[in-house]
Amino acid sequence: MCGIVGYIGNQKASPILINGLIRLEYRGYDSAGISTVEKDSLSVMKDKGRVKNLYQLKGINDLEGTIGIAHTRWATHGKPSKENAHPHLDNSKTFSVVHNGIIENYNELKKFLTDHGYTFYSQTDTEIIPNLIHYYYKNESGDLRFLQAVKNACSDLKGSFAIEVICKDYPDNMIVVRKDSPLVIGKGETENYISSDIPAILSFTRNFYLLNDLEFAVLTRDNVSFYDKDLNIIKKNTQTIEWNASSAEKDGYEDFMLKEIYEQPTAIRETIGSKLNEFSKCEFEELKFTKEYLATINKIYIVACGTAMHAGLVGKNAIEKLCQIPTEVDIASEFRYRHPLVDDKTLCIFISQSGETADTIAALKLSKENGAKTIAISNVIGSSITREADYSIYTHAGPEIAVASTKAYTSQVMLITLLAIYFADILDRNTTTVNQLKTDIMNLPKKIDETLKLSEVVKDFSKKVYQEKDIFFLGRGIDEAVAREGSLKLKEISYIHSESYPAGELKHGPIALIENGITVVGIMTDKNLVEKTISNIQEVITRGAKTLVITNQNVDKNMFNMTIKIPEVNPFISPILSVIPLQLFSYYISKEKGLDVDKPRNLAKSVTVE
Ligand code: M6R
Repeated sequence: MCGIVGYIGNQKASPILINGLIRLEYRGYDSAGISTVEKDSLSVMKDKGRVKNLYQLKGINDLEGTIGIAHTRWATHGKPSKENAHPHLDNSKTFSVVHNGIIENYNELKKFLTDHGYTFYSQTDTEIIPNLIHYYYKNESGDLRFLQAVKNACSDLKGSFAIEVICKDYPDNMIVVRKDSPLVIGKGETENYISSDIPAILSFTRNFYLLNDLEFAVLTRDNVSFYDKDLNIIKKNTQTIEWNASSAEKDGYEDFMLKEIYEQPTAIRETIGSKLNEFSKCEFEELKFTKEYLATINKIYIVACGTAMHAGLVGKNAIEKLCQIPTEVDIASEFRYRHPLVDDKTLCIFISQSGETADTIAALKLSKENGAKTIAISNVIGSSITREADYSIYTHAGPEIAVASTKAYTSQVMLITLLAIYFADILDRNTTTVNQLKTDIMNLPKKIDETLKLSEVVKDFSKKVYQEKDIFFLGRGIDEAVAREGSLKLKEISYIHSESYPAGELKHGPIALIENGITVVGIMTDKNLVEKTISNIQEVITRGAKTLVITNQNVDKNMFNMTIKIPEVNPFISPILSVIPLQLFSYYISKEKGLDVDKPRNLAKSVTVE
């Protein structure tokens, strides 16, 4: 989705802004632009396509301004084009604005402004913002004139927004505001930065301010002042982020995705952290749950989108089996509109790597309104979801830059399994099983290392099937959840059509699609179900399918075209190992096809609009 960068300091702004945009490229975009305050005017340079088109524009190196805003656009209103790219100016060229989000009442506001003599040159919802600010600015005076005009304009906006504004008349100020859309402020010594997310400006600072909804920040070179929605001054402290700048670099890997796949042993170790000790109870300092409270819970919902939802499916298995609490997993965009049965006896868990997914945040707000207690699981400290939830717990996967989620997924699976153990410990349920699981978790990182060593075998098979049109993924039980994730990963970065099915469901329709030469991937890690899944795979072999099997069981390798034997592990955490060959499978297929692995078409890393 759209990315925002801002800089105010003593250096030339344009190279810093472009550097920031390059680091936000992974979010997905179709055009880019920057705007700086020059001597007595605002510059705007923008173009359709990649950021590299922007920095090749004639004159961009001549920009001298030391304050500027920049944007990568992911089209919502109006096609990708130079005209629709941000920044947008008001008619008098006094204000320049970039915006992330959607203004829902823009038609109404556009008519209002048109009736007041304003002209629009783009099809975007954003262009109303600088003009609305100008409309109010004309009638304001005094020291807070610029801020008051921005505030008045924002009061008229419905929808979601993260907005940066610069003004020709205020060459030493930048104003930012957000509502339901991400934006962070990085604090330097004599310079300050804005970004949609932390990794983009991590090489400049590790100290960040976080804005809540409808809070305004006025940035100067050496200060940031904060105001609430009525422009009362508020005080904020910076938060220091532990991630280091190199964690947002490729570090010699060809792609972020590959680097992130190989970072999984560390990500899992960090996520386990000090929560687990095989000889004592599992600890979550952030949660102070009691046996009495958990005994009142009659249902748990796990709500998320995409890969995070797949991690939720693994969590459901652990919570139901270890804690005997009925658990439902739901897609956030469905949950929020289907009037779910949620009350004060429901515990709702929301999983989001970015912590900024619009549907997941909306689902969380709805659950709170209905009286449920809410827990956010996120990878980003201070992200929106963590600020909305009653409790927040973190995966410690480090920044995930590739659009296709890998280390975040396995860390989410790890964390939600630890959460299930924490609940089971409090409830004194299944002690023997839980203690065995704790021991097995402690040994997991080295099994991940072993699994990663299978990469060459996966690569070989990928080379054989990369030109396929359809690939199917089958599994039963927990392996079915992994099949879904394998299938999603493949679609995302290889553009190969793919479906996943519970293996036993095949005969009820999908087997009609199986024909000579089609590729079927079977995941079999549950020793109680392996024979059943083998029978289903046999059925597709009979119909001419090529088969890849991922298993930790002793199966007859001669049956399949390729068998990948992964280390045996406790079934509650087997998805953390079995997904790795599937991540590598989609990675190598994408590479073989010569695609952009880290930035697949049409996708955005963090989906901040519904
Ligand atoms: O940031 P979130 O975890 O909330 O993102 C949810 C999904 O958009 C995300 O997992 C998506 O499915 C990934 N691109 C999958 O690789």
